[in-house]
Amino acid sequence: MQVLIVGGAGFLGANLVRRCLQEPDVRVTVVDSLDPRFMSRRESLPDVPERIQFLQGDLLSETDISAAVVDQDVIFDCAGQTSHPVSMDQPYLDLQLNCLGSLRLLEAVRHHNPTASVVFTSSSTVVGPAVSRAVDEDHPERPRDVYSANKGVAEKYFAIYHEKYGLRTVSLRLPNLFGPYGKPDARFGFINYFIGLARSGRPIQVFGEGRQTRNVMYVEDAAEVLWRVAGDARLFGSTYFATSDDHRSITEIAEAVDECFAGGGVEHVAWSAGREQIEVGNVSLSSARLREISGWRPRFDLRSGLERMRDVLEP
Ligand SMILES: NC(=O)c1ccc[n+]([C@@H]2O[C@H](COP(=O)([O-])OP(=O)(O)OC[C@H]3O[C@@H](n4cnc5c(N)ncnc54)[C@H](O)[C@@H]3O)[C@@H](O)[C@H]2O)c1
Repeated sequence: MQVLIVGGAGFLGANLVRRCLQEPDVRVTVVDSLDPRFMSRRESLPDVPERIQFLQGDLLSETDISAAVVDQDVIFDCAGQTSHPVSMDQPYLDLQLNCLGSLRLLEAVRHHNPTASVVFTSSSTVVGPAVSRAVDEDHPERPRDVYSANKGVAEKYFAIYHEKYGLRTVSLRLPNLFGPYGKPDARFGFINYFIGLARSGRPIQVFGEGRQTRNVMYVEDAAEVLWRVAGDARLFGSTYFATSDDHRSITEIAEAVDECFAGGGVEHVAWSAGREQIEVGNVSLSSARLREISGWRPRFDLRSGLERMRDVLEP
């Protein structure tokens, strides 16, 4: 079986490559631009040239992406601009990568490989602040930043291409992920940033009291659910929350990270204006719909995920 992972040198992509390679008959092609702004490195991919083909290419290039989709059985779209604050500072960059990029991929699949399964990695932040106790797929979308708005638009493209052209598409809304190959940079996922601070013995700074809760998921669970949905025709044409049951306050997360990686403690600091504007407050996500259809359940919680990550990084 041939699998294409666009954005496969990134955090989620590098973990998904490893999940795919657990299947003995799978060969993976990775297309990634290695754009320095996104800090991904080719070295994050496992060194098994007989099973991985790496192509440095651009999702925005019709030529690159059309060539890459040919003969693939499964295609994962893990590429894009993934920082909420960057999307506010550079909205056109976000639009290009997260909307135009997804359309390019869909057009390439439509014209060159319409029977492939195509899985889109969306974000739980598409919904914005919660207006009901549990947030599921029927919750209204009121995203608070350009990244989340554009991910919501791209989900619709994937659904439209299923409906209109019969493509085998599915979108998963993922929560805050953490794990190996994450970027220890404040602009990207905050848990990986906290982990980077703790691993280098520095204190973790939490804005305000840090009582707002987040759904957190270990990246191997995300890779597992992506792999599973690609082969499940019952899911095609729709968008699902693929989230964990673990809703933790920012302070709890910081303390767990600090403890697991023997960091330099947790400090509380004043909010920065840009962050406060895009803060969504408490959101309690439900992935009941996806779980009922697919049977998928996450294996890790915050603590076991952190411990697993420590074992992977420091065997
Ligand atoms: N990390 C999370 O917590 C999280 C949560 C929800 C959703 N997601 C989604 O998962 C996907 C992967 O996120 P990630 O955390 O791995 O991000 P990442 O930044 O680590 O990976 C994205 C990859 O895309 C590549 N890329 C960017 N522009 C490209 C282009 N034009 N052509 C080819 N490659 C390009 C980058 O080089 C990078 O390797 C994204 O769609 C993101 O929105 C991530």
